[in-house]
Amino acid sequence: MKYSIAVIKGDGIGPEITEAAIEVLNAVGLKFGHEFAYSYPLMGGAAIDATGVPLPDETVSICKAADAVLLGAVGGPKWDALPGDKRPEKGLLGIRSALGLYANLRPALLYPELSAASPLRTDISSAGIDLIVVRELIGGIYFGDRGSRQGRYGEEAFDTESYSAFEVERIAKVAFDLARKRRGKVTSVDKANVLDSSRLWRATVASVAKQYPDITLENMFVDNCAMQLVKNPAQFDVLLTSNMFGDILSDEAAMITGSIGLLPSSSVGEKYALYEPIHGSAPDIAGTDTADPIATILSASMLLSMSLHLSEEAAAVDNAIKKVLSEGWRTPDICGEGCKKVGCRLMGKLIAERL
Ligand code: IPM
Ligand code: MG
Repeated sequence: MKYSIAVIKGDGIGPEITEAAIEVLNAVGLKFGHEFAYSYPLMGGAAIDATGVPLPDETVSICKAADAVLLGAVGGPKWDALPGDKRPEKGLLGIRSALGLYANLRPALLYPELSAASPLRTDISSAGIDLIVVRELIGGIYFGDRGSRQGRYGEEAFDTESYSAFEVERIAKVAFDLARKRRGKVTSVDKANVLDSSRLWRATVASVAKQYPDITLENMFVDNCAMQLVKNPAQFDVLLTSNMFGDILSDEAAMITGSIGLLPSSSVGEKYALYEPIHGSAPDIAGTDTADPIATILSASMLLSMSLHLSEEAAAVDNAIKKVLSEGWRTPDICGEGCKKVGCRLMGKLIAERL
């Protein structure tokens, strides 16, 4: 079969990690007899440099026309001085919103091969980590009213956290449906002891839960959740969060599995889907061939199974990653004593070869 994939390379390490993922996708194509046709629309800093805006209209149309979108990462110090609505990150928020990608799925899995790379004590990590953050992606404080004004103490700025019952219901259903395919537990994260938006969140999740009597629902305050993630991450199956809380907790969930370079994500809506690592563009190591491409390669694997319905192919990619890790190959972020250190490019090549 022939598939079209829009690849947004982005900034910083974005080009390196997406190239590694393309190498793996091409190997999948060869082995299973598929043809992947790539297009490379611009977004983020690269788009600002070329066109003056972080998300050109053309990028949105290319992404809509493709079977799926793979994204590296955007942003960097070069564009830090730009006003908020012209920054590279605005492009990312813009594409999520333009494609209606309200559900961001971020699985965090501790590979037994990488348990030594986890910063957690072994008595904690040995219980295993296999959770998924279901993060609402196109609402909340990221998209609420914002601005600046003169206040009691002079200049002030504000951002607003706002959720409708509709938005909460929509994302809660994704979490409950996923829990059904997993271990049957949803932990909904909020700050209902303080925030009105969280109280609506909690009440709405409770009403959705009635349609899922087979699923255990637990509510947890976000501060406690941050603590529980390092104290006893094995307790979690599906973590349901707002946009902001999911952003914060998914970095933590990634790190406890060994490195932020390992966590993939899929962002899905009714019609479109985009796949990206959860980490940023790491400008400090860009161009040094030291980035970890695994999160992006795992994102490509999610793309294969979720958008192209090629589950055998996706499983082959996951197995190739496990194989390379069990052989001891490591990028610097997960390289402990005695590991076989490789760069981004070689890591991609090794995974492609193991398919
Ligand atoms: C992420 C990132 C983005 C976010 C940034 C780059 C806008 O941190 O995908 O987690 O906050 O959503
Ligand atoms: Mg983040």
